[in-house]
Amino acid sequence: MAIDKIHLAVLISGSGSNLQALIDACANPDYPAQIDVVISNVSDAFGLERAKKAGIPTAIVDHKDYSGREAFEAAIAEELAKYKIDLVCLAGFMRILTPGFVDKWEGKMINTHPALLPKHGGKGMHGEHVHKAVLAAGDSESGVSIHYVIPEVDRGEILLQRRVAVKPGDTAESLAKRVLTEEHVAYVEAVRMIAEIHQKRA
Ligand code: GRF
Repeated sequence: MAIDKIHLAVLISGSGSNLQALIDACANPDYPAQIDVVISNVSDAFGLERAKKAGIPTAIVDHKDYSGREAFEAAIAEELAKYKIDLVCLAGFMRILTPGFVDKWEGKMINTHPALLPKHGGKGMHGEHVHKAVLAAGDSESGVSIHYVIPEVDRGEILLQRRVAVKPGDTAESLAKRVLTEEHVAYVEAVRMIAEIHQKRA
C-alpha cells in the first residue's frame, strides 16, 4: 500500500548538501515525504542542479530583484502557493524572513543550525562564524539543531539535535565538515518525525 507522504518545499541559497540528503531519503518509497519544489534566492546555487537532476521543479526568487523583504517574500509565497506544501524546509537558506512570513508558516517551517542551540545562535551566527564561536568558547562538543522557525532567529522549538566532538586541532573548516555530515542525518530524521505527527493526526 502506498504510504501517505507530506509535501515539502526546500529553500536554499548554496551547495544544497542538506537538500541532497532529503532528495536521497525521498527516493526511498517508504520515506514519508516528497519534495514538490526547491526555491533558491541565488540564481547559480549548486542545489538547483541537484534538484533538476532529481526531476524536482525549481524556482529562483532573487532578493536583489525586489525592492524590499516584503516584496521578496511575497514572491516566495507565490511560488509556494503553486503547490500544497505541508512543510517548508530551510536548508542553508541565507535570508532572514520577516515575522509576517514566518507567522504564516508557524509550526510548518523548520531550519537547520550547525550548533547546539541555544548556544551559538542568533543574527550573524551562520556559516563559519558559528564554528569559530564554538572553538573560541573552548566547547568540547558541537552539533546540529533542527528547529521550528519563529520570528526570533534560531529560537524556535528544537525538534532534534545530534552531537559531534570538538577535536584537538580542529579548525572552523574541519568542525564544519563534521557537523555537516550529522546535519544530513538529522534533517532527514526531523522530516520523518514531522511526517509521523501528520500521519497520527490524519
Ligand atoms: C549548513 O551547515 C547549514 O546549517 C548552514 O549552511 C550549511 C548549508 O549547507 N546554514 P548546504 O547548502 O545544505 O550544503
